Amino acid sequence: MCSSRRGDGSLGSTNVAHGREVLPTNVKPVHYDLTLEPDLVKFTYDGTVIIDLDVAEDTNSISLNANELQIHSAVVSVEGAVVAANPEVTMNKDAQVATVTFGETIVAGKKAQLKLAFTGELNDNMAGFYRSSYKTAKGETKYMATTQMEPTDARRSFPCFDEPALKAKFTVTLVADRHLTCLSNMDIAHEKEVQGGAKKAVTFNTSPLMSTYLLAFIVGELNYIETKAFRVPIRVYATPDQDIEHGRFSLDLAARTLAFYEKAFDNEFPLPKMDMVAIPDFSAGAMENWGLITYRVVDLLLDEKASGASRKERVAEVVQHELAHQWFGNLVTMDFWDGLWLNEGFATWMSWYSCNTFYPEWKVWQTYVIDTLQSALSLDSLRSSHPIEVPVKRADEINQIFDAISYSKGSSVLRMISKYMGEDVFIQGVRNYIHKHAYGNTQTGDLWAALADASGKPIEQVMDIWTKNVGFPVVTVSENPAASSITVKQNRFLRTGDVRPEEDTTLYPVTLALRTKQGVDETAMLTERETEFPVADLDFFKLNADHSGIYRTSYTPERLSKLGQAAKNGLLTVEDRAGMIADSGALAASGYQLTSGLLSLLKSFDSESEFVVWNEILTRLGNLRAAWLFEDHQTRDALKAFQRSLVSAKAHELGWHFSADDDHILQQFKALMFGAAGMANDPVVVQAAQEMFARFAAGDLDAIHPNIRGSVFSIVLKNGGAKEYDIVLDRFRHAATSDEKTTALRCLGSAEDPALIQRTLALASSDEVKNQDIYLPLSGLRSHAAGVDARWTWLKSNWDAIFKRLPPSLGMLGTVIQITVSSFSTPAQLKEVEAFFAEKDTKGFDRAVEQSLDTIRAKISWIERDGGDVENWLKTNSFREKL
Ligand code: BES
Ligand code: ZN
Repeated sequence: MCSSRRGDGSLGSTNVAHGREVLPTNVKPVHYDLTLEPDLVKFTYDGTVIIDLDVAEDTNSISLNANELQIHSAVVSVEGAVVAANPEVTMNKDAQVATVTFGETIVAGKKAQLKLAFTGELNDNMAGFYRSSYKTAKGETKYMATTQMEPTDARRSFPCFDEPALKAKFTVTLVADRHLTCLSNMDIAHEKEVQGGAKKAVTFNTSPLMSTYLLAFIVGELNYIETKAFRVPIRVYATPDQDIEHGRFSLDLAARTLAFYEKAFDNEFPLPKMDMVAIPDFSAGAMENWGLITYRVVDLLLDEKASGASRKERVAEVVQHELAHQWFGNLVTMDFWDGLWLNEGFATWMSWYSCNTFYPEWKVWQTYVIDTLQSALSLDSLRSSHPIEVPVKRADEINQIFDAISYSKGSSVLRMISKYMGEDVFIQGVRNYIHKHAYGNTQTGDLWAALADASGKPIEQVMDIWTKNVGFPVVTVSENPAASSITVKQNRFLRTGDVRPEEDTTLYPVTLALRTKQGVDETAMLTERETEFPVADLDFFKLNADHSGIYRTSYTPERLSKLGQAAKNGLLTVEDRAGMIADSGALAASGYQLTSGLLSLLKSFDSESEFVVWNEILTRLGNLRAAWLFEDHQTRDALKAFQRSLVSAKAHELGWHFSADDDHILQQFKALMFGAAGMANDPVVVQAAQEMFARFAAGDLDAIHPNIRGSVFSIVLKNGGAKEYDIVLDRFRHAATSDEKTTALRCLGSAEDPALIQRTLALASSDEVKNQDIYLPLSGLRSHAAGVDARWTWLKSNWDAIFKRLPPSLGMLGTVIQITVSSFSTPAQLKEVEAFFAEKDTKGFDRAVEQSLDTIRAKISWIERDGGDVENWLKTNSFREKL
């Protein structure tokens, strides 16, 4: 047992160690025998749990977690003899702790047993043991029972010691109607008839030592497909309303991935089977429950003929991510939630690593630079960001750190260190770590120690700074031609551009990765505030080769345009080009550079040939246009004209016809350019979209290729009215795949007519949109000012209903707030949002509110600073005249 956990179990309250609210340490769970009987008509369940405990300290009370459960009876025994047949059970609702108190003291060293009988509700909140529903072909609503425990909802399913370090073994029994499928983490040990044959009791084999948050139970009508291509059987399950064959891609990929990871980790997957289940109502994308991974339908099932390349890539990413957790997270688990990044950062890194091996032609590490790295730098540039290792005390704080810091910055730190060590050495270190800590719990330092062992390098010293501090630096480069050197200086980077000296005290170890015509110098490191480095030929150089470092680089305007030229001359990699544009965009938005410099740089990329680079160009221009959403229409139209001038030629050249010969990237490239041109009113593309849509509406469902389905819907809705709206709405209601349904739902927001905006909002409020999907119609409204305004009014006037529907503990309220609020960019809007939330108890979503407010503040300063600069550039480059 961890020595820092203080034992004060006799208080019957929680133990405050590290400032965390954790359970007392007087007893430790060893084994749970859990029986659950869900009622799919009343939406309740009965349960009993028998917990074997090691008694660590003399005790006359046992505290464990429970939330929204009725505990009806308790029995405490010691080595077979009952010591309390009906002890008192008290509940501390706020702490989510139940305490059983008895007269007799059980002495340290004994083995005790606690038996509890309880009932719970199969809730509608996608947390704990909950109900999920689907409609049959006849329109009948059917229900299943399923679980989502992470982070702290195992205690909502049954009373348990719900902390990741309190690993135990579990023997689960599910009692259900005979025709229903029962699943849990393990395979079935035995099944017997109960209640006179009316029901069956399915008992699963005892699990290995595991954390409570990884448990899962499912009862429902399910179909499956199976593969034997891996050492143990793998199955994909789905409800009968789905075509189970759509699980084939994930099933086959899972077999390859498990084999790959067994080899990479040099460790056999320890469970007897792997099931992956598509759940109709699911709050996250997927959950890595050991041996029973649950997914949102669109993230597991794929109809390759009816979905585009990006959906396929997302499914592949999710499947590989959850499978990586089977080792990293499930076998070796963080010791507490402040180590969440170990789980999520690692699974994120690992999924890209294996994906790159399986699909080298997807070039996912290029995508990483514009995707994961940018989301890390984006969130971490806010004052309201947090360190990777963040202290979390209470359950309601934990959900909020499943964010871009834990996932994206966490994985970026691993990408940085893996490049520094070399990927093979890195994997060797990870292997050692897995072997050493299997079935155990770790802290970040344990990973650094294993990596240091493998590499012989002082990893911890370098990495601690990155995981323990908030933020990252901007490295400013000045040139000394006389000395043939550069001077680089690091400072904290904030998007709001208003760093205070006391916020700028951390000096990061920054790998310069200096690219010159001679190649990349991987050794130079900036560890001080400012250092001079020799550069033999100042004609061409670039820092942060391939953007493996977690920082932004600020060059002089002259150097930046030289780099634009170097890009044209083929001196820079795709990652360099995309990363440089990203840096330039972020530096302009925060006042480190002028936005006119960014616009000139983007303009100079008109002959760019790569998808990933174009993607970043359009992201940065999109950010600028989104920030200027409430500015005068001449400027907005001029920015749109600039976008057209950038993309039209390329969009026309690539075209919007897809053939079997188009590779994965080309498909996405065509889709990107088509969408960007169409949304900027390129007349040829708009007309093409309208023609495809007309054929589609007339019944030719193949008229719109899945790669451009969303763009076509958005373009016609933007330029159309109720007629187009009704057709897209019908696709949301009746399309064959969840992918098309959700695409339609998201696109409805593109319609700008006030009456249609109201229909979109009413739809979001209605039962027709599942709670898991509310964010989709809302996010669709972000492309126009009227939609953004109406959405806020909707949030304010429906606050109580929304709050009730999406309780903060679910995590989705934060998402809805972020989507709704972050589109604002004026001082008046900022004031209004501040005033609205000032009166609210923001517990459970305070980070979302703070981060959204910071986002608005950053945009306000950007516009104030560079509004004139942007206008002048648009005039000088005659985009305002081109109207
Ligand atoms: N462990 C998470 C699921 C989760 C998220 C549980 C939030 C509780 C709160 C899972 O491994 C995960 O990270 N899922 C991602 C997918 C992944 C590809 C990034 C998700 O849900 O989107
Ligand atoms: Zn994960």
